[in-house]
Amino acid sequence: MPHPPDSKALSQARYTRFAEGYVTSETHAKGSDLDRLLAIAGPQPHWQALDIATGGGHTALKFAPHVAHVLASDLTPRMLDQARQFISERNGVTNVSFEEADAENLPFGDDRFDLVTCRIAPHHFPDAQQFLRECARVLKGGGLLVLQDQVLPADEEAARCVDAFERLRDPSHNRAFNAREWEGMCQAAGFAVEHSEQYVKRHDFLPWARRQGVDDATIERLIQMMREAPAIAREWMDPRDWATDAATFVNRHILIRGRLG
Ligand SMILES: C[S@@+](CC[C@H](N)C(=O)[O-])C[C@H]1O[C@@H](n2cnc3c(N)ncnc32)[C@H](O)[C@@H]1O
Repeated sequence: MPHPPDSKALSQARYTRFAEGYVTSETHAKGSDLDRLLAIAGPQPHWQALDIATGGGHTALKFAPHVAHVLASDLTPRMLDQARQFISERNGVTNVSFEEADAENLPFGDDRFDLVTCRIAPHHFPDAQQFLRECARVLKGGGLLVLQDQVLPADEEAARCVDAFERLRDPSHNRAFNAREWEGMCQAAGFAVEHSEQYVKRHDFLPWARRQGVDDATIERLIQMMREAPAIAREWMDPRDWATDAATFVNRHILIRGRLG
């Protein structure tokens, strides 16, 4: 699927603008998906961990008490500032450091980490396969990749609709993948997929849209898009109280544990 060549610059610009909103976002801070990620990873106290696209730092903060060190990285310097304030200054955690890094071109040496985490971010990356190759490169042999991202239905028409709905709200959403595509890409990068599960996240539609600064006209287009969505896409997104102030819908995430061979 095509993506604009400047999509990284677009991600950076948008996350610079919305950085504060991501630290306080309930979706990112409080989801029980973070508990699932931790359980799936089974972190060990001596582990060196890398969190890619740390955003507000919620995954890094969750893992920090369970490992020796977390390197929290992100493409957007303003997001990293927010993550630093949130983790080190507000929560007093001392085993997390912060470094600017592009997920597709990590500025870290080979065989360095026991664990790489990346939560709700790969849909921004122009080349998800390259991101996975970089994860494999920086992990030690036998190391773990624990990944969470939006997942699409297997049906192609429904997948296009769900992906377009997300992209209309956030133009830096490059593309999501279905479960089979994720598992194939992980294997192609050298990971044995040991575990894969899906997680359903219900969102309040208006706060979800406003967090990315959408205007009223775009909200109307999103509402219309949901109304006109093919049946499989509607079933996937499960809208409730649609077009009222209480409207909700779900997006679905895949959680994967891959072990480097
Ligand atoms: C939704 S936030 C991530 C949420 C966070 N991982 C969490 O657990 O709450 C998406 C993040 O991806 C970052 N990002 C986008 N493209 C990136 C890239 N190519 N490399 C690294 N980070 C990227 C953005 O700067 C933003 O901070």
